Amino acid sequence: MQFTIRRDAETPIYRQIVDQVRAGIATGDLPRGARLPPVRQLALDCGVTRLTVHSAYAELQAEGLLESYVGRGTFVASTAETLPAPSSKEPIAWEGRSIVASLMRHGDRPGIISFVQAFPARETYPVSELEAALHEAMADPDVLGYGHTQGDPLLRAEVATLLAQRGITASPDDLLVTAGAQQAIDLILRAFTAPGDVLLVEEPTYPGVLELATRSGQRVVGIPNDDGALRIHALEAACLAERARLLYLVPTFSNPTGRSLDSPSREAVLRIAARHDLLVVEDDTYGFMPFDRPASPALRSLDVDGRVLTITSFSKMLAPALRLGTVVARGDLLASLATVKGASDLVCSAVLQRALALYLRAGHLPGHSRRTAALYAERRDALLGALERHMPGCTWMLPEGGLNLWLTLPGGIDEAGVANDALAAGVAVTPGAAFFPRRRPHGSFRLSYGALDPDRIEEGIALLARVLQDHLRMQGRVAPFGAGGPLV
Ligand SMILES: Cc1ncc(COP(=O)(O)O)c(C=O)c1O
Repeated sequence: MQFTIRRDAETPIYRQIVDQVRAGIATGDLPRGARLPPVRQLALDCGVTRLTVHSAYAELQAEGLLESYVGRGTFVASTAETLPAPSSKEPIAWEGRSIVASLMRHGDRPGIISFVQAFPARETYPVSELEAALHEAMADPDVLGYGHTQGDPLLRAEVATLLAQRGITASPDDLLVTAGAQQAIDLILRAFTAPGDVLLVEEPTYPGVLELATRSGQRVVGIPNDDGALRIHALEAACLAERARLLYLVPTFSNPTGRSLDSPSREAVLRIAARHDLLVVEDDTYGFMPFDRPASPALRSLDVDGRVLTITSFSKMLAPALRLGTVVARGDLLASLATVKGASDLVCSAVLQRALALYLRAGHLPGHSRRTAALYAERRDALLGALERHMPGCTWMLPEGGLNLWLTLPGGIDEAGVANDALAAGVAVTPGAAFFPRRRPHGSFRLSYGALDPDRIEEGIALLARVLQDHLRMQGRVAPFGAGGPLV
C-alpha cells in the first residue's frame, strides 16, 4: 500500500497515516492479517520521524485495528472490521479493490441478466442525430485542436440554457466541462480536500464517490437518508464532530434508490452548510430523467451564497461514450476546478463537445427525453410488476426517475450469499453494502433496470426470486411468492 503524506495539509502527519490505514482496511486493500511496513521503513519512505509512525500505529492498535507482535511485526487485526469474507462459491468481487471495476466486470459476463450497471438503453442512443452533429462540427477544423480547458463556449452556452429547466441561473462562464460526472467528482475532491479530510455523504450513496474518496485517503462519514429524509441531526452532529469541508449528495432520482431528497431536507442541508461552512456537491446526473412528475428544482436553485456545486452529465441522458458533463460553481471555486482539470487531462475532446453543442442547439433533446422517459417508465413498471409477482417477502422503493431501484430483502437474509448464488444462476445484482461507506451488508440490492427489456426483467427477477426462496428454505422459512410489496 502506498502512503501519501501532505505536509501542507492541516491534518497532522500521524493522523494522515492513521486515516490511510483505516481506509485501506475498509476497502480491503489491507485485508485481515496483512503485514504493515515496519516503523523504521515507513518513517524512511514517508520522510517522517519514527515517533510519528509509532504514534499512528499505537492509535490504530488502541482502536483494535492493528496487532503488534515483538519480533514479528505489525498486522491488520484478525478482528478488524473489514469487508465481508468472500463466499465459498463464486467469488464476489465487490469485496475487492475497485467496486466500480468489479461491478462492470460482473455485469459484462456473457449470458448473465445484469441488473448491475446503471446503463442507459443502447437502443435510445441518438445515433443519426449525433452523426449529423459530428459531421457539422468537423466543418470547423479548429475542433480538432485542443480547445479551451474550461470547455467549448458553444457547449457551455447550450448547457447554461438547459440548466434553466432545473431552476439554475448560470452563464456560460459559470460552467466547466468535464469528462462526465465521474471526473467532476474527482476534480472537486482533488481541488477542495486533502488526504485525511472527512467527506460527508448520504447513505446509501453512489459507489463511485466512495471509491474516489477512499483512494485519495479521505475518511467518509455516512449520513442516513431515510427514503428522501436526510437525518439532519446526524448531519449536524457530524459537522460538529468532524472538520468536514464537503457534503456529497445525489438529491434528485438518487443512485441507488431512484428517490429524491424532500424539501425540508434540502432546506436544512443549505442551513447547516452555511452554519458549518460546508461545500455541497449536488450530483444531478439523473435530474433530467423524471417519470411521472417533474423533478424538484436543483438544490443549487435555493443556494444564496454559492456553496452548492452542481454536476450534470450527458451519460445517462444521451450516451455514456460522449464522456461529457459540466459543473456549475461560484467563480473562485470554478477557477480552482479548472486548474485541476488542466493539470489532469488538459481538456475534453473539442470535437465531441462541439457535436454535443450542435445536437442541443438543433433542439433534439426534448423529443429524445420524452421518448426515453416513456421507455424507462415502462421498464420500471415491468420491474415493479415482476417484483410483485415473484419476490418473496421483499419491500422496495418506487423509483420516480433515473435508472435504479432499491430492494430490501426479508430480515436475516445474507445479501452477499444471495448475490453470489444469483450470479451462479445467471442473474447479477449489486449488494447493498457497495453503497455504504463502511460497506456493511444492509440486506438490500440495487437493481439497475434501464438497459433491460421487459422480458429480460421478468426472467431475471423470476431467477432471483428462486434463489431467494432457496435461502429462505435453508433457514427453515417459507415466504409465499409475492408476500412483499412496495414500501412507497
Ligand atoms: C450518481 C452518479 N454520478 C456519477 C456517475 C458517473 O457518470 P459519468 O458517466 O457521467 O461519469 C454515475 C454513473 O453511474 C452516477 O450514477
